[in-house]
Amino acid sequence: VQAAVIVVAAGSGSRLGRPEPKAFAPLAGRPMLSHALDGILALAEPVHLIVVAPAAELEQARAIVAASAGPALGYTSVVAGGATRQQSVAAGLAAVAPGVGTVLVHDAARALTPTALFAAVIAAVRRTGAAVIPALPVVDTIKRVDAAGAVQETVDRSELAAVQTPQGFVRAELDEAYADPAADFTDDAALLASFGHTVGTVAGDERAFKITTPWDLARAERLLAETAS
Ligand code: CTP
Ligand code: MG
Repeated sequence: VQAAVIVVAAGSGSRLGRPEPKAFAPLAGRPMLSHALDGILALAEPVHLIVVAPAAELEQARAIVAASAGPALGYTSVVAGGATRQQSVAAGLAAVAPGVGTVLVHDAARALTPTALFAAVIAAVRRTGAAVIPALPVVDTIKRVDAAGAVQETVDRSELAAVQTPQGFVRAELDEAYADPAADFTDDAALLASFGHTVGTVAGDERAFKITTPWDLARAERLLAETAS
């Protein structure tokens, strides 16, 4: 296979506030992770799928992977994550099969991400030879506020983008950055940029929103109910 998709699912989901880790929380009757894998495995091209799960959930993660199917099902791996997202990505990256040139990193929490977005990111990485991330225009007016909550200024929205996953990388660049990360970043594009690598964008997709709060989970439930009816 020529592409790998690392699905990071090792977070606890403190903001969601469920008893189980977030990726294992039920969404329309099955774990969030199961939905996330659907979008990936519907790709036409076979991929190396790597699921990064909490150490205590490896068995459950393996069962979810085993129950998933689709044209993209190539190799699969399930590995234990770390204390931060970046550490979890590092664990996934260490498992990527030899010969893979394009690596996508995806949040399991973006469980409704359409297959077309994975395909667009893979195609753009290959076309540009550089990292590519999905981005959407920011719709809210954004203010800079101080610690006391007082508004300091309005930030120029036209210079801003809300970014999503899957984020796509040239494997060699991602390996280089993860060999000696300068800091703990919230996304891999920031880590890549800290090494001076170019990061491009493709159009994001509203369905790739991240399930963070109970409200987001309820929204995902509603969207799935709409598509089922
Ligand atoms: N993630 C991970 N390992 C961590 C932290 C996060 O694999 N140590 C993953 C999560 O499982 C999620 C993605 O990174 O799919 C995005 O993180 P986020 O939405 O912040 O999830 P959590 O960290 O689990 O949630 P919270 O921040 O509310 O605790
Ligand atoms: Mg988090």
